[in-house]
Amino acid sequence: MDDDNLIVLENVSKTFEGNIKSEALKNINLSIKKGEFCSLMGPSGSGKSTLLYLIGALDIPSSGEIYINSQAISKLNEKQLTKLRQDYIGLVFQFHFLLPEFTALENLMIPQLLIKVPKDQAKKKSLELLEKANILHKKDNRPSQMSGGEQQRVAIARSLVNNPLILLADEPTGNLDSANSKNIYSLLRSLNEEHNQTILVVTHDQNFASQTNRIIEIIDGKIVV
Ligand SMILES: Nc1ncnc2c1ncn2[C@@H]1O[C@H](COP(=O)(O)OP(=O)(O)OP(=O)(O)O)[C@@H](O)[C@H]1O
Ligand SMILES: [Mg+2]
Repeated sequence: MDDDNLIVLENVSKTFEGNIKSEALKNINLSIKKGEFCSLMGPSGSGKSTLLYLIGALDIPSSGEIYINSQAISKLNEKQLTKLRQDYIGLVFQFHFLLPEFTALENLMIPQLLIKVPKDQAKKKSLELLEKANILHKKDNRPSQMSGGEQQRVAIARSLVNNPLILLADEPTGNLDSANSKNIYSLLRSLNEEHNQTILVVTHDQNFASQTNRIIEIIDGKIVV
């Protein structure tokens, strides 16, 4: 395997069993290098979120293997999987899922405190990331006291607290207007350019996608080349 590849999928399929069987992903082969900025495009129901969940080790393939930094996900036990998610993966969903009772700063500190990062250190890191996401001025606001775009910037900052090698973003601008979407995209771009962050982002915005290193198109569970 090429060592530059941070994410490798080999013959990955995912079928959801149930009263109606759904073949969400069909024999996917895909490699993403460290520092690559990829957009993932495709129609509704084509398998984009499923693919992100598998790469984020939140779900397992029905067949095939996924390697993150050369580690085969299927070979890891529960403890190693948790560590992989913590050390490698930052996830941003379409809706931000910030904790409503807590301020922006606290929303970044809490995931660190949960893994026993000392409070001073967690605070310092949180302030740095809020600054990087250009939202430091709202650090003491709760989610309800921020705009949708501001909340999404906080959510992206939060996804980075544990220094993940990989940022997976599932339509991070899905609920935002075009001005706020532009801000989110420029934040992702700066993370990639300045910090060599490996990013896979689901987007429907052709213009934004054309500015990323690579567009991965998925139709009906298959990657189109
Ligand atoms: N938990 C599940 N159980 C059964 N089927 C599922 C499940 N999750 C997804 N699917 C099916 O798998 C397929 C791919 O779904 P997925 O959510 O990955 O699509 P998507 O490309 O993210 O779509 P969208 O753009 O609408 O978010 C769809 O046909 C969907 O109905
Ligand atoms: Mg989806």
